[in-house]
Amino acid sequence: MGKFVVEGKNPLLGEIKVQGAKNAVLPILAATILADGECVLHNVPDLRDVSKTELVLRRLGCPVKREGHDLTVKPAELCSCRICEDLMREMRSSIIFLGAVISKCREASVSMPGGCPIGLRPIDLHLKGLRDLGVEISEEHGYINCRAKKLVGCEIHLDFPSVGATENIILAAVYAEGRTTVQNAAREPEIIDLASFLNKMGARITGAGTGTIYIEGVKEPLHGTEYTIMPDRIAAATYLAAAAATDGELLLTGTEPKHMGAMLHVLNEMGMKLKVFGDTIHIKHGKRLSGVHMLRTMPYPGFPTDIQSPFMAVAALAEGTSVFTENIFENRFQHVDELIRMGADIKVAGRSAVIRGVKNLYGANVVARELRGGAALVIAALAAEGRSEIGGIEYIDRGYEAFEKQLSSCGGIIRRE
Ligand code: EPZ
Repeated sequence: MGKFVVEGKNPLLGEIKVQGAKNAVLPILAATILADGECVLHNVPDLRDVSKTELVLRRLGCPVKREGHDLTVKPAELCSCRICEDLMREMRSSIIFLGAVISKCREASVSMPGGCPIGLRPIDLHLKGLRDLGVEISEEHGYINCRAKKLVGCEIHLDFPSVGATENIILAAVYAEGRTTVQNAAREPEIIDLASFLNKMGARITGAGTGTIYIEGVKEPLHGTEYTIMPDRIAAATYLAAAAATDGELLLTGTEPKHMGAMLHVLNEMGMKLKVFGDTIHIKHGKRLSGVHMLRTMPYPGFPTDIQSPFMAVAALAEGTSVFTENIFENRFQHVDELIRMGADIKVAGRSAVIRGVKNLYGANVVARELRGGAALVIAALAAEGRSEIGGIEYIDRGYEAFEKQLSSCGGIIRRE
């Protein structure tokens, strides 16, 4: 288990090129199995979660080749419709293959994904949507076994705008007979990227990015294509948070600012100076940061749950009191104890955390227990006085490419041990 060693209190000053979006490339890799020819993806981030997804593709029989940030998948050689327990335990978001495998093979057998540190992560909405499309599903011995003589388009209403359920339904509906309408669909930009990729391969999807998505089933097999993955809005906002916490100044390139409205608004509210031009965001500290009166995580376009913990590390140093309410996952405050070890003044009451800003944080030995909470600890350590050691960095490597290299290229004193 590796660790980061950080010497804090150095403002981040420099330029960072933001990685491709983890949460766009995972469903797009699953979507490649629907093609009858080679798919070439560009701007693919080098992350643990991506290499695990490559492994799932290989286990399904599809050769995958990586060259830098380009990935080539040969889906025509798919020869299995089973995702085993070891892979699902490694990465529960492999459940995103379910819809694509059913579409391609009319059957699928996947190990139940189970929960993860941030919550139970049920998949009831995924399974309800698939059953609506005509998939027979049985759950036994820890496996979800699916069979569909025919997939027939229909109207599906999601009780909650689940990102994964929306993606699985889209993937399962691509070859269904007739039109499928998804009501109360997730509106995240990653859904738009998935739909754009599928349409480039010959699918017929409209409404992605809105609450109602239409998928016209096609008979023709999808063809291979070349596609560039969208920028990672969460990674971008994480670097902005690191600049804010360290009184720094950063130029982020390779971003998509229109995906980041809620996050940029909060940074503005806290007193950071932001300039946006094209795919570039410039952030500079102003006077001492002020707290966020009330921050609530919501489905897109609301404030993203994935950036709650990195922004809490910033609020820990802001003047005044901030109240963060986590409405999406039930266990997403695990970073709080560790921030308190660094001198933060935070009280958790149910789904809300009350953060009273302090003048300084102090280096300490802390442990990451999940991806985004781990990023929050790195941000706090970069802002803290003295040395910190951060364990559990394999969680951070799941979602941030070369995190310590990016930060040290801008003056952060951080190394991997
Ligand atoms: C995706 O997870 C992302 N992961 C998450 O990012 C992100 O936090 C989440 O969307 C919300 O934006 C990937 O894209 C790989 P959901 P997903 O289904 O699809 C409940 C990160 O850090 N729910 O929208 O699992 C669920 O319990 C990760 O990059 C059901 O009840 O999110 C949760 O409370 C973490 N039944 C809420 O919906 C279901 O069938 C949101 O889940 C499905 C979900």
